[in-house]
Amino acid sequence: MTRRVIGGAGPLVGRVRLPGCKGISHRALLLAAVADGRSTLRNLATGEDVARTRRALAALGIECADADGSVAVAGRGFDAMAAPGAPIDCGNSGTTMRMLAGLLSGRPFESVLVGDASLSRRPMDRVVEPLRRLGARIGTTDGHAPVTVTGGVLTGAEIDLPLASGQVKSALLLAGLQASGTTTVREPAPSRDHTERLLAALGAPLTRVDDRTVRVGPVGALDRFDLEVPGDASSAAFLVVAAATVPGSEVRIEGVNLNPQRIAYLDVLEAMGADITRTVEAERLGEPVGTVVVRHAPLRGTRIASTEGIVDELPILAVAAACATGPSEIADAAELRVKESDRIATTAAMLEAFGVAVAPTGDGLVITGGRRVGATVDSAGDHRIAMCAAVAALTAEGSTTIDGWDAVDVSFPGFDAVLASLEASA
Ligand code: S3P
Repeated sequence: MTRRVIGGAGPLVGRVRLPGCKGISHRALLLAAVADGRSTLRNLATGEDVARTRRALAALGIECADADGSVAVAGRGFDAMAAPGAPIDCGNSGTTMRMLAGLLSGRPFESVLVGDASLSRRPMDRVVEPLRRLGARIGTTDGHAPVTVTGGVLTGAEIDLPLASGQVKSALLLAGLQASGTTTVREPAPSRDHTERLLAALGAPLTRVDDRTVRVGPVGALDRFDLEVPGDASSAAFLVVAAATVPGSEVRIEGVNLNPQRIAYLDVLEAMGADITRTVEAERLGEPVGTVVVRHAPLRGTRIASTEGIVDELPILAVAAACATGPSEIADAAELRVKESDRIATTAAMLEAFGVAVAPTGDGLVITGGRRVGATVDSAGDHRIAMCAAVAALTAEGSTTIDGWDAVDVSFPGFDAVLASLEASA
């Protein structure tokens, strides 16, 4: 197991550009793979999760080649995908597994999707059951991976999802593009909309009926495209909380995705007193891109009562709460229990190790901000917990050891080097 030792930090100062958004990278790879012609993707996410999607495409006969810092995807339409010779290993990546389940539902061959121990514990019925409503022949192992997709003919349907999920919605849209008739997906609350934005920008037959409802029709062919993937807003969140909590800091994050569904954490931090400015400067295939500037400011506790737009940021917002004055509460966040780890339990254990007063509830956490003392923390194999511990360590007394540091490579290899460069330029 790899470990990293992190001490209290001086101010973080400087400007950074981050590797591409993980969510957009997965989607860009999948859509480029079924488009007609060669697409070029720059600043693709560098982590293991997106590498899994890329390897899955190779297993399905789609060539993805590195060329001058970009990735060229040789799409030849949906029909060019070929049966994989072995089970497709999605590793730790729920997005790979769930979106592939949708894409492969419409292909005329059998695929088996497997994952690591964490992914094999995560629920797959939430994606399999609605896909079956389109006629997909798809099976799980007691609701979990391995998932076996026996592709075939799909028919559009109206689907009301019981929970909001960007992954499940995207799986249905990828299946819907291959179905006859119209597929309508309605969610109880809005979820991240990268798939809709990209499909709309590519001219696919997609209608956003309202913020919870989207409709697609069958697409004969998708145009090839070039995309420079905007920096990852969730990776940025660790740097934003680091700069907000370490006295004297001022960090400028450029070229970052400013999709409102991905930066709601900035609103939460502002409500806590954080000093943040954000400026949209461009749009790339439907995605707003710009700059975020964060300066240190004292934070006060808050109440967060929804996961909408912040589900992946709740652990780092919990770190911000630990650095704030007064109590904070995260409620109605039971989804955290089925992420890469049980993030209610692992966030609580991580903060407790630092000596923070934290109490897990059934669906959230109660945190009282206060003194943090360097600790030995286990990442629990969860990339976000490892990076949260590193940010908490910056303002703790003494040094912190993080076991299982290599989990960071799932989404943000080089995170510690970025932190170190901001400390060095202060
Ligand atoms: C994702 C959606 C979210 C998020 C995950 C990535 C996506 O999951 O937690 O990290 O790319 O659509 P859910 O779809 O389970 O909410």
